[in-house]
Amino acid sequence: MTGRRDGTLMRNTGHSLRGSRIAIAIVIGVLLGCVFAFLFPHGLFVSSPIPGRRISKSNTQVGSGPCESSERINMLKSEFVTVSEKNAELKKQIRELTEKLQLAEQGKDHAQKQALVLGEQHKAGPFGTVKGLRTNPVVISDESVNPRLAKILEKVAVERELIVALANSNVKDILEVWFTGIKRVGIPNYLVVALDEEIANFCKSNDVPVYRRDPDESIDSIGRTGGNHAVSGLKFRILREFLQLGYSVLLSDVDIVYLQNPFDHLYRDSDVESMTDGHDNKTAYGFDDVFDEPSMGWSRYAHTMRIWVYNSGFFYIRPTIPSIELLDRVAGRLSREPYSWDQAVFNEEFFYPSHPGYGGLHAARRTMDFCLFMNSKVLFKTVRNDAVLSKLKPVIIHVNYHPDKLTRMKAIVEYYVNGKQDALKPFPDGSDW
Ligand SMILES: *[C@@H]1O[C@H](CO)[C@@H](O)[C@H](O)[C@H]1NC(C)=O
Repeated sequence: MTGRRDGTLMRNTGHSLRGSRIAIAIVIGVLLGCVFAFLFPHGLFVSSPIPGRRISKSNTQVGSGPCESSERINMLKSEFVTVSEKNAELKKQIRELTEKLQLAEQGKDHAQKQALVLGEQHKAGPFGTVKGLRTNPVVISDESVNPRLAKILEKVAVERELIVALANSNVKDILEVWFTGIKRVGIPNYLVVALDEEIANFCKSNDVPVYRRDPDESIDSIGRTGGNHAVSGLKFRILREFLQLGYSVLLSDVDIVYLQNPFDHLYRDSDVESMTDGHDNKTAYGFDDVFDEPSMGWSRYAHTMRIWVYNSGFFYIRPTIPSIELLDRVAGRLSREPYSWDQAVFNEEFFYPSHPGYGGLHAARRTMDFCLFMNSKVLFKTVRNDAVLSKLKPVIIHVNYHPDKLTRMKAIVEYYVNGKQDALKPFPDGSDW
């Protein structure tokens, strides 16, 4: 801005300097004109002293006296003013174009600088030794985003990470099993975001760390009245503040039983590390699903990439730019498409690559071990019927595949915590509808 203003000033100074020189020249011209008019009354000059200038008709009678000369000079003057105005206009346009060009160059430069900050340029190492970046740098904490939350997190978080759950009074019973499990394991760094007063008081009376959002925060009206999916959209907006404050969050639904401390089982190498809805190695970690089209003959097999979706109810998210971009993209789409399912949107934004007309997210991801971060299909279909697997203790169990959450959660506690061997037996594999 300053540079630009200086430039204008300089340009003006240049003008007035040039203007005064011209004025002196004009005065000399007038004097000479008078002398020549006196000495050569029939005229010596028929053409203008300015090269290339065409003479107007009145000028054919030139040289009859000083008055006419001064008229001519006035005309020349005004012509000069017009030309120099045009000149200034052109200069302005050139300056604007140059500025635009510089801005474009800076954009390019910015991308290059960003790449340089992320890592200096290197030659590729020998075969088998190169590894791309997957652990992005964390953002600088911005306390001004939410000073009150910042204070709470200072007290609650351990090594700048914590478990966060959203709850309203519809899930009070489930929440109780949830925090009882966390306390039993001895996890100190967890926080309930209370979406109504009742749940806030319930947490306080149970000595559970709670954060009640200010009632006037507009996005929160959803939290009090909204159904499951509306609350999910809110979740991504609230999460953003935690990341902006520089904390890693293990986002947790409340229909989860904690059996070990999850922070002892994270890799922390990716933007998002998520539990899967998959139920075995293939579905959890990805596989080639061959699509068969016999009419194509020799090329009847088309290979596809498949992976069961990430569970948007339990994931560890580091405070990085791609992570925050993911939250923004999901929250944005959920607000534009109110009938979409947040978990589907979460996965689409996460996995779809860039393609014509669409820029995909560039975030690093990791699938959690589905035997440690276990969903309820794995437990009830496989693990409880397997002599070896049923002896292993998972880190958490998420009752995401079954609607009778509370009874299954309690049974899981009986089985894994109280050693009741037949506690899981009464339940069918799936739900009875
Ligand atoms: C699944 O993968 C793990 C390693 O990731 C391996 O130890 C295990 O044997 C695999 N299970 C099956 C059934 O292939």
